[in-house]
Amino acid sequence: MPSPIRAAWILGVIASTLAGQTPGTLARSSEAMVASAEPFATEAGLEILKAGGTAVDAAVAVGFALAVTYPVAGNLGGGGFMVIHLPGQGEFTVDYREMAPAAAHRDLYRDQDGKVDPEASRRGHRAAGVPGSVAGLCHVQARFGTLPLGAVLAPAIRLASEGFRVSPALARSLRADRDVLGAYPESKRIFLADGELRKEGDQFLQPELAGVLVRIAEKGRAGFYEGATADLLVAEMKRGKGLITHEDLLAYEVKERAPLRGRYRGFDIVSMPPPSSGGIALIQMLNLLEGFDYQPSERSGPDRAHRIIESMRLAFRDRALHLGDPDFAAVPAKGLTSKAYAAHLRPQIRERAMVSRNLTDADPFAYEKTETTHYSVMDKSGIAVACTTTLNGGHGCGVTVTGAGFLLNNEMDDFAIAPGVPNMFDLIQGEANAVGPKKRPLSSMTPTLVMKDGKVMLVIGSPGGPTIINTVLHVVLNVLDDGMEIDAAIAAPRFHHQWLPDRTQCEPKSLTESAESVLGKRGHRLEARTYGIGDAQGIRRDLKSGILFGAADPRRSGLAKGL
Ligand code: DON
Repeated sequence: MPSPIRAAWILGVIASTLAGQTPGTLARSSEAMVASAEPFATEAGLEILKAGGTAVDAAVAVGFALAVTYPVAGNLGGGGFMVIHLPGQGEFTVDYREMAPAAAHRDLYRDQDGKVDPEASRRGHRAAGVPGSVAGLCHVQARFGTLPLGAVLAPAIRLASEGFRVSPALARSLRADRDVLGAYPESKRIFLADGELRKEGDQFLQPELAGVLVRIAEKGRAGFYEGATADLLVAEMKRGKGLITHEDLLAYEVKERAPLRGRYRGFDIVSMPPPSSGGIALIQMLNLLEGFDYQPSERSGPDRAHRIIESMRLAFRDRALHLGDPDFAAVPAKGLTSKAYAAHLRPQIRERAMVSRNLTDADPFAYEKTETTHYSVMDKSGIAVACTTTLNGGHGCGVTVTGAGFLLNNEMDDFAIAPGVPNMFDLIQGEANAVGPKKRPLSSMTPTLVMKDGKVMLVIGSPGGPTIINTVLHVVLNVLDDGMEIDAAIAAPRFHHQWLPDRTQCEPKSLTESAESVLGKRGHRLEARTYGIGDAQGIRRDLKSGILFGAADPRRSGLAKGL
């Protein structure tokens, strides 16, 4: 490995040691488990379980609580996906991804001279898609929950109206995004205390947000998409020349979609179909890997890493070429996830690394932070919920709806804003994912259940843009192939390849030195990654005893806790 990379690698080791990247605390319970990226939100879920709620009730409570206590990712102004298992009824997926406003069009992010302006899809009012989170959570509660909506909103309303103490992680995330938040007066007032910054231990009250939550508790989705909240959102759009109208809000649609299913070495994988690419890419990679024999003794050898990287490359290439909103583009989901297609592709995985076309030196990771969030909930009855939700990048588009206290997403940047122009994660994407009115941008979010004989044995997901898919892949392989416990499976160092740029980003110690050297000779370009990939939150259920084991990713500050 050349010396600059080695130097960065060493820095990475130091950085990740500082971040405490050792196996996290393993939580254990025979009753129920919540794993989320933020302790107040985990406690909100436990409060609902204690009050007799199911894992679904708890998951909805966690979702609303995250919107209060984890504004970098938890949201009312964004969107997400949920995968649910109900014993005896099967699996369901709920798509509450943002939709492009009706006025969006494929040249939305070009100026008069036809020049593309990538900032326009990332910052400010025009970057926001029509939010789906509130419609999604209300839908899930009404259809799959057991408690009234007001009951699951109660913890979030309390946290917003009575306030909570700012944690070190929250203070850090707000400080890190002070530029983007500081650019919009309402964001600056609320999230930066008018520029003073919110310090660790300060009490943080959000009365406007509490008002919105109360309206949702009283009126359901109409408390957000109609009436006072909708008026505030549309007024905010007018103020910043944004596109979202009252009609867009009324037209927002939650979609239940058929879960995407795959099978890996005798386990069933249930994950999110398009408009997420996560499920397809995960199953495609597992199908490719299943064709190679594997023994845990080969875990740290070069062949294992080589095959994983090549599978990532192939799956991300297909993602770029074929995937988009299935309501608008023909997505070959069945083909991409078929064993036969994997058998067709597999011979390309040879001794040497493949070369991805159009090598680019752009650095997606310069923009990459964990501004999405995942939570996993399971209860004793076997109900399991995997939910990933997002505003997309750093506090979304930066804009807070004046008078309503919530941030808006910048999900429009997940579209291919122009052919060949990479998005903030340097993903090159195709025609199927071009901007279009009412279309949903392609996602990488991968909330996933792994099942055996009809029972859920793993609930997993992560933030991290395109690294989400590979984070889930690593954890699934660690549990299924290497028999690791959930804390170790999540803590284990990871690597990431996304077809283009043609390189593998490696966390410290994700490869042994000898594997690194062999992979280098086979043509892999390895780069050190100086901060963690993803923030996985997972639950494993022991199939014999029924005991639930939960773990929050030690790369960040989450909490897994049993009842
Ligand atoms: O849906 C997606 O794939 C992205 N909007 C997720 C963004 C993300 O994970 C940001 N955090 N790293």
